[in-house]
Amino acid sequence: MSRAPGGLATRLQHIEPSATLALAAKAKALAGAGHTVLDFTAGEPDFPTPDHIKAAGIQAIHANRTTYTPVAGLPELRAAIVEAVNRRRRAAYAPSQSLVTCGAKHALFNVFQALCNPGDEVILVSPYWVSFPALVQLAGAKPVIVEAREEDRFLPDPEAVRRALTRATKAIIVNSPSNPTGAVIDHARLEALAGIAQERGLIVVSDEIYEQLVYPPAAHVSIVEVAPQLQGQTVIVGGVSKSYSMTGWRIGYAVGPQPWIDAMITLQSHSTSNPASISQHAALAALTGDQQPVARMREAFQQRRDRLVEGLNRLPALRVTRPDGAFYAWCNVSRLTTSASTLAAQWLEEAQVAVVPGEGFGSKDHVRFSFATSLDTIDEGLARLERWLTQH
Ligand SMILES: Cc1ncc(COP(=O)(O)O)c(C=O)c1O
Repeated sequence: MSRAPGGLATRLQHIEPSATLALAAKAKALAGAGHTVLDFTAGEPDFPTPDHIKAAGIQAIHANRTTYTPVAGLPELRAAIVEAVNRRRRAAYAPSQSLVTCGAKHALFNVFQALCNPGDEVILVSPYWVSFPALVQLAGAKPVIVEAREEDRFLPDPEAVRRALTRATKAIIVNSPSNPTGAVIDHARLEALAGIAQERGLIVVSDEIYEQLVYPPAAHVSIVEVAPQLQGQTVIVGGVSKSYSMTGWRIGYAVGPQPWIDAMITLQSHSTSNPASISQHAALAALTGDQQPVARMREAFQQRRDRLVEGLNRLPALRVTRPDGAFYAWCNVSRLTTSASTLAAQWLEEAQVAVVPGEGFGSKDHVRFSFATSLDTIDEGLARLERWLTQH
């Protein structure tokens, strides 16, 4: 009988630590050693959590709301989540069809654990968020990668999805707006993807964590809005991390068919139990309170996006497709290198500019710039890259 090295479980042998977190840590270490690193690696807003949300968390502590909540989350929070989803998606989910989790990542973990068996295949579109393949593999299933082409603005190609189908295909992940490309999937493509899912009875995992960070004239639509008949086979994943600048509070959610949500609740009851009670009270304030801070952050992101994307596209060796959502610019560096990670290491060492190499997202030809950073950082980063490029 073969044993995993060091006694590790076999399911962890082929799973690498998150690439985004590793590069950010390296940049922080350099900054800690006194270098002025311009950090474009952030996967989180740089704004503080809005005051009224923080106050709700503090109030929860003072009011001793510090005990267990129901495993699936506070009833009022589940109601608020479903109310927001129903309003935005013109749907009619019941609060019982929702589950509050420790971040959207945890919701996704629960989804694949609850729905996938070894041998199942899950289609995901490349470039993909780094954790998608690992989350699928941790459930024993196999990620099947379908390329989205740069000429198509990184939007999924329904025909390519169709070609990737096998008898083992169980699910497809739809992530709009996308991390890392910022692509927002249009109505027609969603309709085509929905058609495939319906025809083949596929589970759709719709990761909508960036739904509120979409820059006009682009607009976000969910696959369940385009194809309401798909609600019975779709799990919507979302959360407060990105829109409300609450990454550290760790509150996400899943909304979907009752039996699937029930299975996830059972899983959660034996793993994490409820997400932190204090964070749940803060998330409730986020969803039900003043939405102006979200609009203000979105406007700031849009301004930064324009500055960064225009600046990068002015540099001859670089090329960026303008992202319509999220806060990432996916930059083609293939004229400079055959290895994004080598280039990212060079930029960090020689220009103290930190970006995330594309390999972890499925491309060695791209690096990811986050524009969840100040306009000053963007300006100075562009100036440093321009100098670096003239020297090389
Ligand atoms: C596409 C996508 N889904 C999910 C998550 C996880 O969000 P959370 O911090 O709420 O777990 C992220 C965070 O980077 C993301 O980019």
